[in-house]
Amino acid sequence: MDFNNTHDSVTRRIRAITDRVSMAIENDLYFYNQPIEELHGGAKVLVRGREMGMYASYGYLGLLNHPRINEAAKKAIDKFGTGTNGVRSLAGTLTIHNELEETIANFKHTETALTYSSGYATNLSVVSTLMGRGDYVFSDKLNHASIVDGCLMSGAEFRRFRHNDMEHLEGLLRNSPADVAKLVIADSVFSMDGDIIDLPKVLELTKKYHAWLMIDEAHSVGVLGEKGTGIEEHFGLGDVIDIKMGTLSKTIPSVGGYVAAKKEIITYLRHASRAYIFSAALPPAQAAAANEAFKVILDEPWRIERLNQNTKQFISGLKGMGFDTMLTETAIVPVLCGDDDTAFAMTREAQHNDVFVLPVVSPAVPEGLARLRATVTAAHDPSEIERAMDVIGEAGKKLGIIS
Ligand SMILES: Cc1ncc(COP(=O)(O)O)c(C=O)c1O
Repeated sequence: MDFNNTHDSVTRRIRAITDRVSMAIENDLYFYNQPIEELHGGAKVLVRGREMGMYASYGYLGLLNHPRINEAAKKAIDKFGTGTNGVRSLAGTLTIHNELEETIANFKHTETALTYSSGYATNLSVVSTLMGRGDYVFSDKLNHASIVDGCLMSGAEFRRFRHNDMEHLEGLLRNSPADVAKLVIADSVFSMDGDIIDLPKVLELTKKYHAWLMIDEAHSVGVLGEKGTGIEEHFGLGDVIDIKMGTLSKTIPSVGGYVAAKKEIITYLRHASRAYIFSAALPPAQAAAANEAFKVILDEPWRIERLNQNTKQFISGLKGMGFDTMLTETAIVPVLCGDDDTAFAMTREAQHNDVFVLPVVSPAVPEGLARLRATVTAAHDPSEIERAMDVIGEAGKKLGIIS
């Protein structure tokens, strides 16, 4: 293949990305895909031979390497081996899968649950299996890419409402035909901005307009609510969300995704969603680790308290220095930099001073809103957070973001 033949659209696409990557590498501004060599406790890592404070992980409760969780995974390997050799519907279902689904259903206060091999596959498959041509799906503009892809794949009419703008959502619902199936879908905690969907209002609107409600709890499990059970607990609501989606790869230190819902919905998805039917089951160790992690969250509520304290310290400290942290209320803390180059330069300064943060730039966020997306966890010590903020503050001054 001749990569200089730019008449070919495939070549043009490949070149656009590879040129951007090469430029970034040449200018020492490429920070993605760096291998972590070692984990040092819950909040430090060894990268390129340097110990760095980790401020880019979604392990909100510091559960990675928790002895109970590791032990459960090891036992599952001893019992079942390392894979399943099949899809769930055929030879791939193990007792540990059923146990995990029961644990999730109890944790999320629903009738039952279903797991998939990733959070991405969960959203893609669940949305596109529930919705179809002629139906209407209403999605927050800042929803995760896996939701957007699921909506597009479904073939349903795709309406995007302005971020957390309930008047806009209501207008779109009002203007849709009365007699079609409707689904409103949103992240619970938005993965780029750290703010929380206005669930009580969304709920009111879904009731008024007879729409189904699906919420992605990737960043709220272990984070919201005193017990860490998520967004319904946070707002003091009962079991009000029709389809509660989540991942097993963030607070839960494993991999996979799930939906928790009423039995009929899960039976339908178990027999109709393609990511479940045509893709291999979660490996036993990962299912067992996830199963134990939900129990650890309930047994160790001090982790949530600690996360809340660390979050407060981090947000108020950065704001106090003059940074714009947008509307975050959670452990995902955007540090607004402006243009992409400034976000890259901030990252370089931080990483050269052993603070592992990563930039989010366009097109993942709108032009001019490039940022560091920093995260804190329950595993950070307040003194480490203070040091990270000093480093970010110095970098911000050097680059003229704060004075
Ligand atoms: C809101 C949200 N939903 C879904 C996913 C996909 O989850 P996973 O990484 O487990 O596939 C992510 C991951 O970044 C996410 O942030």
